[in-house]
Amino acid sequence: MSVAVRFDDVRKDFGPVRVLHGVSFELAPARIHGLLGENGAGKSTLMKILAGYETATSGDIQVDGTPCRFAGSRDAEAAGIVLIHQEFNLAEHLSIAQNMYLGHEKRQRGMGGWLLDDAAMRAEARHYLAQVGLERDPDTKVRDLIVAEKQLVEIAKALSRRARLLIMDEPTATLTPAETERLFALMAKLKAEGVTLVYISHKLDEVQRVTDDVTVMRDGRFVARAATAELSRQQMANLMVGRDVSDMFPARAPVADNAPVALKVEGLVVPGWVGAQGGLAFEVRAGEVLGFAGLVGAGRTEAFEAIVGLRARTAGTIDMAGRRVTLKNPRDAMRHGLTYLSEDRKGKGLHVDLNLQDNLTLMTLERYAHPLLDLKAGRDALEKAVRDFGIRTGDLASRARMLSGGNQQKLALAKFLQPDPRVIVLDEPTRGVDVGAKRDIYFLIHRLAAEGRAVIVISSELIELIGLCHRVAVMRAGQLVATLGIGHLTEEELIAHATGTH
Ligand SMILES: Nc1ncnc2c1ncn2[C@@H]1O[C@H](COP(=O)(O)OP(=O)(O)OP(=O)(O)O)[C@@H](O)[C@H]1O
Ligand SMILES: [Mg+2]
Repeated sequence: MSVAVRFDDVRKDFGPVRVLHGVSFELAPARIHGLLGENGAGKSTLMKILAGYETATSGDIQVDGTPCRFAGSRDAEAAGIVLIHQEFNLAEHLSIAQNMYLGHEKRQRGMGGWLLDDAAMRAEARHYLAQVGLERDPDTKVRDLIVAEKQLVEIAKALSRRARLLIMDEPTATLTPAETERLFALMAKLKAEGVTLVYISHKLDEVQRVTDDVTVMRDGRFVARAATAELSRQQMANLMVGRDVSDMFPARAPVADNAPVALKVEGLVVPGWVGAQGGLAFEVRAGEVLGFAGLVGAGRTEAFEAIVGLRARTAGTIDMAGRRVTLKNPRDAMRHGLTYLSEDRKGKGLHVDLNLQDNLTLMTLERYAHPLLDLKAGRDALEKAVRDFGIRTGDLASRARMLSGGNQQKLALAKFLQPDPRVIVLDEPTRGVDVGAKRDIYFLIHRLAAEGRAVIVISSELIELIGLCHRVAVMRAGQLVATLGIGHLTEEELIAHATGTH
């Protein structure tokens, strides 16, 4: 069997912390390889080494039988190895086309090759954007794109590099089902053309569908490899975590009959919504977990951004615990006891260049403002958060950027719960989070509800909403089209309402 990639005893230390402990395995050519592992297992790090973004502390990597040690990602790209980053790697102030050709600019022939060939870059960018299904002008600035669109730009950019080995780190975390399908079709096409693909994902149903082989890592080590067809999803989960992870969802304590309404929204209209009659109205009670389902673009994120003042609204009233409130911005909302954890964690959730403690305490600085208590209290809060949320970090003093993707997610969640809110809105709280940590988050949500808080969960994972919520509100085109209680929560029902085929 010919080998596309061979890892031989690859180690990686970040300062005193060892994150890869001698990883050895092989990837066969022209196949789709799933790479699984818990948050912090070392998947992204290993792939960054392969693609020249990091260097191994020791060990060897061979590609097609040739030992490789890349000086940088350009070097790796020249050898046909391209990585699509989990945390996007785009320059926000540049256009889509500029991002795609950054460092690979096309130049006009003649004139000594000095002039950029903008027209050619735009035309080619258009071609690859069409392949991934992104209908945007290549001149659009990346900062004006929503998260899913940024992901599509990353993929288009990688395609334009014509990789022989294409590594995708959580590419579908932010995509709609239709975009995901298109990506899978693209992957199949690339495989047929002889490209080797690595697919990292926590969505085990997708791993099962699209990969040929699965490799599992745990705690910086290789633990298993199998043909995908030989493993059930449960077996994949158990291999990742190293123990049995069934019972994903906690039992739902019933909401007390006399539980007060914690948040009531009426007549909410956001500019751009079509056909919203009388606006959006809903309420959630203390102790209740209320889900919001809907297709991407149904207006769920917009609605809550409007409620906390992150976005304009044309009409609507908000009552909290029976009192009318005006929320001009997220700080205002927080002061009234409402926090909203944005789905765009990198843009709006964390400051990746600050350390963990500063991130955690940023929203509640007043509490830590006594000069002497300050450090100790902040440190205690961090230690508690690391324990409560199972944040894996080798070093408590590190910057948020150093955390693995899923662990950044957990930190963001911890941060947003610091102000001790009464109403908690979580937008896609388990995106990019491993199965074990997902379960932890589900149990946490129910703990918060049991303490008398109201929790709102916006999610595109129906199984999650069905397993977790007391009621699920379904939105379509800025309207609430149905609210289903526990006995009526099925995937078919939710999809039928979300798509309007009910
Ligand atoms: N630049 C860095 N400095 C210090 N530690 C780092 C750095 N990059 C990664 N790490 C650590 O290496 C470990 C492995 O991280 P990695 O990002 O490879 O995990 P992962 O398997 O991709 O997880 P996830 O599923 O959450 O994306 C983590 O403990 C992380 O904190
Ligand atoms: Mg990762």
